[in-house]
Amino acid sequence: MAHRTSDRERNEWAVSLLELQPTDRVLEIGFGPGVAIALMSRVVTSGSVVGIDHSEVMLQQAKKRNASAIEQGRVQLRLASVADFPTGHGRYDKCLMVNAFHYCDNSEDILRRVQRQMNPGGKIVIAFQPCIQGSTSEDVLKAGHTMLEKLKASGFSRTHLDIKSMAPDSVACVVGVRE
Ligand SMILES: C[S@@+](CC[C@H](N)C(=O)[O-])C[C@H]1O[C@@H](n2cnc3c(N)ncnc32)[C@H](O)[C@@H]1O
Repeated sequence: MAHRTSDRERNEWAVSLLELQPTDRVLEIGFGPGVAIALMSRVVTSGSVVGIDHSEVMLQQAKKRNASAIEQGRVQLRLASVADFPTGHGRYDKCLMVNAFHYCDNSEDILRRVQRQMNPGGKIVIAFQPCIQGSTSEDVLKAGHTMLEKLKASGFSRTHLDIKSMAPDSVACVVGVRE
């Protein structure tokens, strides 16, 4: 998965929307092979990057990709389902979900719990790229609006939807802030 240009581009764009600062505490839900974790840990040099994913296979791949940042204590990767969203690990300034939101049941409930774990002014970015044969730009737009509505309903403010044209499909990113 991590070798496809589209995976890299999608993750790069989503991470850029977070406007990371070196001191940020960042959470990624559904990190997969850890591409975004690696991108983020290059910028977050004195904060921390925490990731959760429920797949042991993905955990091992992401650990390998981020071995040196893990060893330096700047990245922590955990095997966990978002349904058991881990609380008590402190508060986050930024949260990222890339092609993971659509796998979550009770996504509004999860977003509410994420929001409670974020510092005031904290930013969330949720990205979606179908990568399914036959999907259209209308499908991406529709999915983007659904994510936007859920973000608003779960209490995030200053929400907006961005669409970027990319191969093989456009990417929808929604952004929100915890007031
Ligand atoms: C399509 S992959 C995307 C990986 C990565 N974010 C990317 O875009 O390259 C979705 C990831 O979300 C994880 N995932 C799906 N449902 C999850 C859940 N309920 N809790 C934690 N992780 C989940 C999967 O294990 C997988 O690694």
